[in-house]
Amino acid sequence: MQEIKKGLEGIVALDTRISFIDGMQGILRYRGIDIEQLAGMTYDAVSYLLVNGEIPNEQELAAYSARLKTERRINGEMTDIMRICNYGSEALDSLRTAISCTAQMDYENDNNSLEANKNKAIRLIAKLPTMIAVMYRCKNGEIPLQPDDDLSHGANFLYMLRGEEPSAIEAEAIEKDFILSAEHELNPSTFALRIAASTLADAYSAIIAGLCTLKGPLHGGARKGVMEMLDEVAVPENANDYVLYKLARKQKIMGFGHRVYRNYDPRSRIFKEMAKKVAKENGDTTYYEVAENLEHVMYREFLEVRGRPIYPNVDFYSAVIYKYLQIPPELATSVFAIGRVSGWTAHCFEQYTDNRVIRPRAHYV
Ligand code: CMC
Repeated sequence: MQEIKKGLEGIVALDTRISFIDGMQGILRYRGIDIEQLAGMTYDAVSYLLVNGEIPNEQELAAYSARLKTERRINGEMTDIMRICNYGSEALDSLRTAISCTAQMDYENDNNSLEANKNKAIRLIAKLPTMIAVMYRCKNGEIPLQPDDDLSHGANFLYMLRGEEPSAIEAEAIEKDFILSAEHELNPSTFALRIAASTLADAYSAIIAGLCTLKGPLHGGARKGVMEMLDEVAVPENANDYVLYKLARKQKIMGFGHRVYRNYDPRSRIFKEMAKKVAKENGDTTYYEVAENLEHVMYREFLEVRGRPIYPNVDFYSAVIYKYLQIPPELATSVFAIGRVSGWTAHCFEQYTDNRVIRPRAHYV
C-alpha cells in the first residue's frame, strides 16, 4: 500500500506560474514579485498581474481600471436578488447565490474561450464588492448606493458599505487587504476550484466551488472567528486566560497556524503594521492590544509545550483591521473573497491551459 498523506500534506500536485511560497523563510511572491512590493501597489494593478500574467504599463492599467469601474454596477434584477437573499449569520450564502445568478445572466456563460473567461474575471472582480455592499445595506433597511468612480477598488467598497468615504488610512488598509488576500497557491479553495476546472466545468462553477470551500472556519471562515474572539476577549488582560482555557480543551484559536508557513507569514507582518496604523487613527487601540497579547501568549505556549512557536496567519490581523473598518463579522469571509477572486480566476485559466482531470485514489478499508 502506498503511504497516505492525510490532508495531502506536502504533496505537490501541479506546476504553477501564479505564486511562490517559501514557508521556511516566510516568502510569498505573486508572479515573481515579493508580497512586500505588491502591498504598495493598487488592487487593480495586482489583479491585472494575476489575471494577465504581467504588470500592466500605464495605459494598460488605465484601460483596465476604467473597465472595472464600468463593470462595478449591478442591474436592477441583481439588486432585487440581493434584497431577497436576506442572509442569516453568513453573507457568503447570499454571495454564492449572487454569483450563480451572474452566471445565468451572462451571455458568455457557456463560452469557455480565454477571452470570454477574462471578461468573466473582470465582471466578478468588479461586481463582488457591489453585491456585498448592496446585500448588506438592503438587509439593514438602507438604500443601496451607486459605486463612486472617483474611488479606488477598496475605498469604493467601504463607501458603498458604510455610506461615507473612508479616511486615507482606511482606504489604504482595505486596498492592502484585497491585495494580500488575492492569491496563495494551492490553498483549499483554490485547489477545490482547480478540481472543478479540471473537469472543464465553466469558470463561474469553478469559482463557486472555490467560494464554498473558503467558507469553512479552518480556511477563510477563520477571519470571522477572529473577529468574534476579539470581542469575547474584550481587554488585553484576558488574553492569557482565554488561550489557556481553549488550549486545555484542545480547541483551536482562530487566526493561528498554517500548513505551509513554519515562520512568520509575510502577509501577517504587513497586516499587523496596518492594524496598528488604523488603531492609532481610531484612537481606541484595544482590539490591537488584545490581538498583540493573544499573539504573545500563543507564541509562548506553543514554544513551551511543543518546542515550536505558532504564528498568526493571514486571517488574524486582517480581522483586527475589519473591526476598525466596521466590517461586520458576518461579512468577513465575503470580503476575503473580494480579494481572492482574482487569484481564483488566474488558477482557473491556468488549469484550462494545461489540463488533466484531477482524480486521486483512495485506499479502501
Ligand atoms: N489553535 C490551537 N492549536 C492549533 C492551532 C490553533 N490555531 N493550529 C494548529 N494547532 C495545533 C493542532 O491542534 C495540532 O495539534 P496536535 O498535534 O496535538 O493534534 C497541531 O497544532 C498541528 O496542527 P494541524 O491542525 O494538524 O495543522 P494543519 O496543517 O492540519 O492545519 C490550520 C493548519 C491552519 C488548519 C490549523 O493551524 C488551524 O486550524 N488553525 C486555526 C484556523 C485558522 O486560522 N485557519 C486559517 C488558515 S490560514 C488562511 C486561510 O486559509 O484562510
